Amino acid sequence: MAQDLRNRPCGGRYGDIVQAIGNTPLVELKRLSPKPGVRLWAKMESRNPTGSVKDRVARALIEDAEEKGAIRPGQTILEPTSGNTGISLAMICSRKGYKLKVVMPDNVTPERTQLLRMYGAEIVYSPGHLGSNGAVELALKMASEDSSYYMPYQYGNAANPGAHYNGTAPEILEELDGEIAAFVAGLGTGGTLMGVGRRLREELGDAVKIVAAEPMQGEPVQGLRSLDDGFIPPIIDLSLLDRKIFVTNHDAIVWTKKLLEEEGIFAGVSTGAIASIAVRIAKEMDEGNIVFIVCDDGTKYLSSGLYTTPVEELENLDTTVWW
Ligand SMILES: Cc1ncc(COP(=O)(O)O)c(C=O)c1O
Repeated sequence: MAQDLRNRPCGGRYGDIVQAIGNTPLVELKRLSPKPGVRLWAKMESRNPTGSVKDRVARALIEDAEEKGAIRPGQTILEPTSGNTGISLAMICSRKGYKLKVVMPDNVTPERTQLLRMYGAEIVYSPGHLGSNGAVELALKMASEDSSYYMPYQYGNAANPGAHYNGTAPEILEELDGEIAAFVAGLGTGGTLMGVGRRLREELGDAVKIVAAEPMQGEPVQGLRSLDDGFIPPIIDLSLLDRKIFVTNHDAIVWTKKLLEEEGIFAGVSTGAIASIAVRIAKEMDEGNIVFIVCDDGTKYLSSGLYTTPVEELENLDTTVWW
């Protein structure tokens, strides 16, 4: 009954694609809600221009640097990223006239490489077995050796959570009239959890629970990180989280399929991980709205075969080659 909802009839009117970032739909998932009084809502960040939540962050990082006078047209921006931030930065840099060099693990899906090249970015590969921490280390080294690079460094830049504090959170608050019992997101840089979490806490106090989905150590889920791997991004303030719940790679994959098959939501694997935790929280509650983030769409994961593999055969997928 979309007519009963208050969303704007279209996503708004904008001067260019960068301005069109944000204002994403909030979609109720009735089939995955375990109880009638508990309403599960998906914040569709996959509906951003390059298909991920990182469009908001990349725009905030670049606009912050512009406001500080830290970059000028033609300059090279350098950033470690497992994919989405790089793709978003690539699109925005191509629009605004900056060069972009991204450092990412060499075992990410080929779709990521194609998307980055498509927007004109240069790619520097870090060893895949070192994961995103390896990309961070290499980028920091490159930046320390060449001062002409500008590195926004989303892991330590307040503009990252700021994009969610000023964008994602107010949109959710507005759509649900401030009635939010729990918010669930994945732990990557921590930007989403910190930005949305801080805003919801300020507006709603302890009435809202902020819940992080964290992958088990040694079980990588693309886009998420285990804090036990030894790197806690500087923007993360763990005291803001009410709960941090581990999720297995298998659950992430199974729930990515469930989102598609039961609700028609075509999402990436970290969203499956987050949805599994959101449903777990829903089972523990008697009533209220639970909001979780759909971080990206499934386009970049198509080559994994995940979406066309029957659930009972998912165990046989080699997730190490495409996460
Ligand atoms: C696919 C995907 N999911 C989840 C996240 C985590 O979001 P955040 O960095 O805001 O913690 C990221 C971040 O890179 C991502 O790319």
